[in-house]
Amino acid sequence: MAKKAVKTITKKKNYPAKKGKGKFSEVQGKYCVRDISLAKEGKMLIDWAESRMPVLMYLRQLYSKTKPFKGYKIAGCLHVTKETAVLIKTFEAAGAEVSWSGCNPLSTNDAVAAALAADGISIYAWHGNYPDFYWCIERTIDIPPHLTLDDGCDLINTIHEKHSELAKNFVIGGTEETTTGIHRLRARADAKKLYYPVYAVNDMETKWDFDNVYGTGQSTLDGIMRATSVLLAGKNLVVAGHGHCGSGVAKRAKGMGANTICTEVKATAALKAILEGHEIMKMDEAAKVGDVFVTATGVKDIIRKNHFLAMKDGAVVCNTGHYDAEINIPELEAVSKSKRTIRPNCEEYTLKNGKKIYLLAEGRLVNLAAAEGHPSEVMDMSFANQFMSHLKLVEAHKKGQKLPLEVMDLPVEQDEFIATAKLKMLGKKMDKLSKEQLAYINDYNAGT
Ligand code: ADE
Repeated sequence: MAKKAVKTITKKKNYPAKKGKGKFSEVQGKYCVRDISLAKEGKMLIDWAESRMPVLMYLRQLYSKTKPFKGYKIAGCLHVTKETAVLIKTFEAAGAEVSWSGCNPLSTNDAVAAALAADGISIYAWHGNYPDFYWCIERTIDIPPHLTLDDGCDLINTIHEKHSELAKNFVIGGTEETTTGIHRLRARADAKKLYYPVYAVNDMETKWDFDNVYGTGQSTLDGIMRATSVLLAGKNLVVAGHGHCGSGVAKRAKGMGANTICTEVKATAALKAILEGHEIMKMDEAAKVGDVFVTATGVKDIIRKNHFLAMKDGAVVCNTGHYDAEINIPELEAVSKSKRTIRPNCEEYTLKNGKKIYLLAEGRLVNLAAAEGHPSEVMDMSFANQFMSHLKLVEAHKKGQKLPLEVMDLPVEQDEFIATAKLKMLGKKMDKLSKEQLAYINDYNAGT
């Protein structure tokens, strides 16, 4: 099954987990979640998501008969949400053995994690698993996995850095869900330090043109509103980064009546922002006028000490990029004299200059920490991509095909399949090119 036999892959030792504060529900070697009694609540959330993810459910129905993943083990490190549960259950129905951890300390829905544990999934995840974030990832590797599924590259990094034997000799391939993770992986591949092939799920049209744009757009505003209840209409809303995610946030904020200001480092992206009707400024200027700030860049230190000092009293600051490095929180702490939690996911910092700044979700993904992440309808396409990409890895493995040790693009046919299925499920019909029209577009001699 694996690339080569490996002698010592599983570490059967019980790792001394600190597990943060409070009580846990745990079965050694099987799961560690916050409270298994939340399973019933979690199951209802999963039922709800299933009713809104028709493409993934279609794939489940199709492959639960043939079980192409039989004998394959998948370790995943991705936000434990109701949508992720639908993906996990689809892999299981298609024959896989699955182990899972969250990819962000604040994004796990404890009820969903409990439902998955009660259903027999090896899951190591709870909301706020700070000291044990990597302990949870390590437990998912114990199975050990033939395939890995990442959102932000933490699982792949752990396997490559701490279990390189496993990476080189056992794992057959992986997938990556997010832009930040793809950047990390390309750097790893360039350095010739990538030991198994990885599909760039993020880069699929049916993923990033929908999930990153409309998913991030809606769920980020949802997170801001749940954490603050502020009126967005009439506010100056600053979005750092006008890539797929940032453009989605700016687009939706504008639709709600905010005066949108974007900051950029890339000229073409800045121009696009202007033509979308947003203002473009340097952060040094935007800091003085913004009411709400959202970072969506994938880059660290976007909002720093001088920006906090320049901000208006009452400014709200949050992040929707993968890591919590975009807002420099140590510098915010350094210019503050006190802080208190004024509402869930909303920390009030009183600066030494007397002004107050509100930091949401500790600078972590506000859409997942303060809201529920992207809606099921968009995750349907993202996760159909995940499922189909793993299927490709398994099919190649069964045929004995050797894939390159690269970050690989997926075929456009996969996009076509998923988009066509989604349209069909939505009951929408499209036009079709006639033979004559097809011949016309392929005719190099056609002109005026
Ligand atoms: N990333 C963003 N939204 C998500 C969701 N609802 N589930 C899993 N991953 C996500």
